[in-house]
Amino acid sequence: MDKIVEKIKNGLRGEIVIPSDKSISHRAVIFSALAKGRSVIRNFSGGQDPHSSLSVCCALGVDYKFLDGVLYVISDGKLKSPLSALDCGNSGTTMRLISGILSGQNFNSVLTGDESLSKRPMMRIIEPLEFMGAKIFSDGGHAPLQIKGAPLNGIEYNSKLASAQVKSCILLAGLFAEGRTTFTEPFVSRNHTELMLKSMGADLTVLGNSVSIQKSELAPIEIDICGDISSAAYFIAAALIVPSSRIILKNVGLNPTRAGILEVVQKMGGALRILDKKNVAGEDVGDIEVCYTDNLKACEIKGDIIPRLIDELPVIAALATQAEGETVIRDAGDLRNKESDRIAAVVAEVRKLGAEIEELEDGFIVRGRSNLKGGCEVETYHDHRLAMSLYVAGLMCEKPVKINGFEWVDISFPEFANLFCKLM
Ligand code: S3P
Repeated sequence: MDKIVEKIKNGLRGEIVIPSDKSISHRAVIFSALAKGRSVIRNFSGGQDPHSSLSVCCALGVDYKFLDGVLYVISDGKLKSPLSALDCGNSGTTMRLISGILSGQNFNSVLTGDESLSKRPMMRIIEPLEFMGAKIFSDGGHAPLQIKGAPLNGIEYNSKLASAQVKSCILLAGLFAEGRTTFTEPFVSRNHTELMLKSMGADLTVLGNSVSIQKSELAPIEIDICGDISSAAYFIAAALIVPSSRIILKNVGLNPTRAGILEVVQKMGGALRILDKKNVAGEDVGDIEVCYTDNLKACEIKGDIIPRLIDELPVIAALATQAEGETVIRDAGDLRNKESDRIAAVVAEVRKLGAEIEELEDGFIVRGRSNLKGGCEVETYHDHRLAMSLYVAGLMCEKPVKINGFEWVDISFPEFANLFCKLM
């Protein structure tokens, strides 16, 4: 499916509720599967990725039902041997988190994924899981993964990558291992796993960049999932660059380990205010007001902030085309291992629109402000975040832009286009 995006005349105006957080939705359903009893999950994501986690849990013997929009997960706390391969779809989070759990079961399983997921690196989880005693057979470090359930032992693992998926995988394996498992990462990545497992009664401690866990029984949860800041980011960027915009985004997750985009907007001098901040089940949540800002300044984005905004870097490229000066993004080499090679893809496609953008091994440089011409077709590389970032850049183009493969948006944010229409 393609989508035509055009310049808007009167700015983005109004108020929208940001839909459910994808990362928290995955964790809510996967962790509920491990808890004996009935978990209640309100505002579960409608994206395809969290539904991959739900269907994998279901294939592992967990029951669920949706009633008046609420997801109930019913489990006896013990997973069952699956009858066939477990399809993780496009979802790296599903594959990596579930692998940690399956490594410590007393049955065998196979995890598969779509074309894009089958190209993504899995050695980052296979290696530490094997240190723990796991038996995993892969296609040269890629899916399909054949996991032979085995007794696991706790390890101390120093990860070179700051990755919440790797961290969560190892902590989940640690729930089934003898002894203590400690995972240390160079910078703190999103901590939803730590917060949720702790609230479910796991024996888990956090010390700086290290998290330790021991075998624990989990209690069911009742959770109201907040809006996804990664989804909010498209509206934040669009409102900052489209003249006359003033919007309010309701119910956005503001967990500091996810909110790097807000720090960047502040550095750029963007008009953004947090309204009504509160804490819901350990997660910070609030409303965000964003207004058009005609004097955005470029900035440097590198080091420890990268894991806090890793998924927002493509839309930051669109934003940076309208900021005065050089926006330099470094230390983000892992962007090449996402649903697409996001460095190469962003550079190629944003350049087609007329931006001045240079590829670096571990990031990119955007030279603003650019007068984006548009009047062309762009590609999405089977990547939802690229599709949505190009839509935002398209709003600034003089001539309409045709985005091919726009259906990939449904992976995380099926409501995306409708919500934009509401603000036009
Ligand atoms: C995620 C972690 C990040 C992020 C992904 C979701 C998660 O991946 O890019 O979209 O839910 O844990 P990495 O852990 O590979 O950085």
